Amino acid sequence: MQTIKVKSLRHIYPIWVGSGLLRRCGALLKKFFEPRCRVMVVTQKTVPAVHRNSLEKSLREAGFQITFYYLPNGEIAKTEKELFCLVAALLKNGFERGDALVALGGGITGDITGFAAACYLRGIRYAQIPTTLLAQVDSSIGGKTAVNTAQGKNLVGAFNPPRAVISDVDTLQTLPVRELRAALAEVIKYGIIADPKLFQFLEKNTKKILSKNKSALTRIVADSARIKAGVVSRDEFETKGERMILNYGHTFGHGVEGALGYKKLVHGEAVALGMLMAAEMALRVGLCSGEVQQRQLKLIRAFDLPVSLEKLGMSAKKIYQVMAHDKKKKSGKLRFVLPEAIGRVSIVSGADESAALEVIQSLL
Ligand SMILES: NC(=O)c1ccc[n+]([C@@H]2O[C@H](COP(=O)([O-])OP(=O)(O)OC[C@H]3O[C@@H](n4cnc5c(N)ncnc54)[C@H](O)[C@@H]3O)[C@@H](O)[C@H]2O)c1
Ligand SMILES: [Zn+2]
Repeated sequence: MQTIKVKSLRHIYPIWVGSGLLRRCGALLKKFFEPRCRVMVVTQKTVPAVHRNSLEKSLREAGFQITFYYLPNGEIAKTEKELFCLVAALLKNGFERGDALVALGGGITGDITGFAAACYLRGIRYAQIPTTLLAQVDSSIGGKTAVNTAQGKNLVGAFNPPRAVISDVDTLQTLPVRELRAALAEVIKYGIIADPKLFQFLEKNTKKILSKNKSALTRIVADSARIKAGVVSRDEFETKGERMILNYGHTFGHGVEGALGYKKLVHGEAVALGMLMAAEMALRVGLCSGEVQQRQLKLIRAFDLPVSLEKLGMSAKKIYQVMAHDKKKKSGKLRFVLPEAIGRVSIVSGADESAALEVIQSLL
């Protein structure tokens, strides 16, 4: 088991990564929750029962009193309506300040549970037990919690760090392969922004990772968590600019997602395309070498992530419009996180529309 510490203004919390951790959750959480307190496990029926059962057993053995709460399946679980249903269940079950919540599932479950924990009685403890690769390498770390509203995604939320994050790579054995591949785009992202050794490991162990080898998964989840933990510990509230490097591939990626109306591609697939565009832009302005661009392309292809916009039926203009519109809403200029080398990026602003359009065009 690897332990990574995250510093937050409120407390320091551990991220544990390894195999067989669901069985140890009760013992691990004893230090963070009150003895014998009530614990509501928030999850979805799409999280396989085998994981729910082993968590339940372990929490009961540690003396906690367990209630399960099932969110509906899908992104619909992350709405204000579902937030208030969850809060109502906490009230109905008489949860008090000393009781706790546990999120067992992907980023959707983690985001709404963390926000409910921030609101309920002005704040109760909670832990994240992420069971998707995306949640293990990204959403469970950093304390961002939120629900979606009719106006857009993640617009109502809070910074609310968990007491602990427990990432058991065994849970990934049941994850659909498309979800695994898509989240690998985020792992590639960490390699590019901060860790040439992680990038190299991905290049050399593609097959092992895709076949869900546990030690390979532990290595990439722990390395990714360490990088995100470092960034959010230094820039918890996104005020110093550093947290922005986590958006590598996301400016163009959001453009692609938006232009597709959030259909056809899942998030990580759009991020893969976004990283290709960012590298193309970096190459054109002379920030990175052709070798950097080619290595990234080869790796994205090796994980069978999309490398072209060709069959998606979108125009470069539409993608650019979504990117520009998103920025206008935030009253900012378009800024791009661009690679300089494998393991180093810089933030560039002031790229004009025609330069961005040409970059997008190069993938059509
Ligand atoms: N808070 C943050 O910093 C942050 C960062 C990135 C993304 N997010 C959010 O994360 C969400 C996406 O998260 P996600 O990609 O994990 O999606 P998700 O939570 O929808 O999970 C995908 C699906 O897999 C199921 N599932 C979970 N674990 C499984 C397992 N082990 N085996 C089989 N199926 C399993 C889920 O129930 C769900 O149906 C978005 O809402 C996004 O906004 C938040
Ligand atoms: Zn992302």
